[in-house]
Amino acid sequence: MKIVLRRGWVVMLLVTWGGWGWAGELSSALGPLPAVTAQPDNPPTPERLRLGKKLFFDNRISGNGRLNCSSCHLPEHGWTLPMAISLANDGFVERRNSPTLINVGYNRVLIWDGRAPSLEKQAVGSTKNPVHKGQDIEALVRTLRADDEMVALFKAAYDSAPNAEDYGKAIAVFQRHFLVTGDSPFDRYAKGDKQALSGAAQRGLELFQRKAGCVQCHHGPVFSDHAFHNIGLRRNPLFDQPAYREILRFDAKRMGLKEWETVDDDTGRYLVTHDPADRKKFKTPALRNIAQTAPYMHDGRYATLDEVIDHYDRGGDATPMQESGIRPLHLTAQEKSDLKAFLLALSGPLPALEALE
Ligand code: HEC
Ligand code: HEC
Repeated sequence: MKIVLRRGWVVMLLVTWGGWGWAGELSSALGPLPAVTAQPDNPPTPERLRLGKKLFFDNRISGNGRLNCSSCHLPEHGWTLPMAISLANDGFVERRNSPTLINVGYNRVLIWDGRAPSLEKQAVGSTKNPVHKGQDIEALVRTLRADDEMVALFKAAYDSAPNAEDYGKAIAVFQRHFLVTGDSPFDRYAKGDKQALSGAAQRGLELFQRKAGCVQCHHGPVFSDHAFHNIGLRRNPLFDQPAYREILRFDAKRMGLKEWETVDDDTGRYLVTHDPADRKKFKTPALRNIAQTAPYMHDGRYATLDEVIDHYDRGGDATPMQESGIRPLHLTAQEKSDLKAFLLALSGPLPALEALE
């Protein structure tokens, strides 16, 4: 039975009422990776994928000519950066961790606080963003129009001359349709190969679904409910440093917060909705290929999966507004190691970039 679950309460119902019996049995909230859904106005073609890949790695998309998308989403590091806080454009510091782009086409929520409406718009927004690439889109379009190879590639992909909209579309197609994994040990197991998960990983799956309660928020094709939660992470002392406080305030002002001048913490979803109930909520990240995408959390505060599991085990940092689902789990050392074995079994291979020449 394959159900696409969209609402937390359905999952809660299944979790409390589900009735699966033995270690390793799969709830219907989890399953193998389905095919990714195309955008109706931007279906993939080989020409679009090729153009998107070229633009993704092209330094001309940044104002200083030294950054491209892969500068902060490194293919050899799980399409993320192996550092807690991301790099930034000249003259800026970042305040968040660079998320992986693996399986990003399945994410219904983009950016840690959900501010980006689509991959298409995000690619253009990221190019203009002074903190990331600080490029003037019209200047970029002029540069691309003066390049015969780019002119030919846009023509083949979108039957157009280089322009901002198709620039965003091509980069979106590349991410959505090329950076897809699947075929992890977990996928093989979910399709019926009961040998694909070790005994430890099967026990970890059981914990994930029951005692540890991870499935409440991490479910569906990429183990995310595409919603926002406060999992009780204490304030990061990084924001005592003037440069980081300054970038928080710069961003809070950009997001229209009245109190931007006094901001001294990353308030996540609140920046977008301005609803106090959303303070310090961040999106539930996908968990596929998690073994390759350290460090973890919106500010990269945890270097290892062991630290993440310890966070949940101790019930978070007991912060004022954390959700009731985040409470001490009392996992044994064996259970923690089983849970980790399960998380490590969520990694599948990506297609080789060379396949897209
Ligand atoms: C200077 C570093 C940097 C560069 C260059 C950069 N990114 Fe990012 N990217 C980030 C950071 C940091 C975030 C998280 C931002 C946040 O949550 O506020 C992010 C978030 C994203 C996301 C959201 C993913 C998700 O699941 O939420 C996508 C998609 C993305 N970037 C694609 C791109 C593309 C495409 C390019 C090139 C056009 C690009 N990035 C260039 C640092 C960078
Ligand atoms: C109440 C919802 C919720 C529950 C329950 C939950 N998570 Fe999370 N998880 C999140 C959110 C939200 C984040 C991102 C938090 C942030 O960065 O501020 C996250 C982050 C993570 C990350 C880091 C991912 C990354 O790319 O940085 C891992 C790994 C993870 N969770 C695993 C688990 C495990 C294992 C459990 C069960 C022990 C669990 N989660 C339970 C919502 C939840």
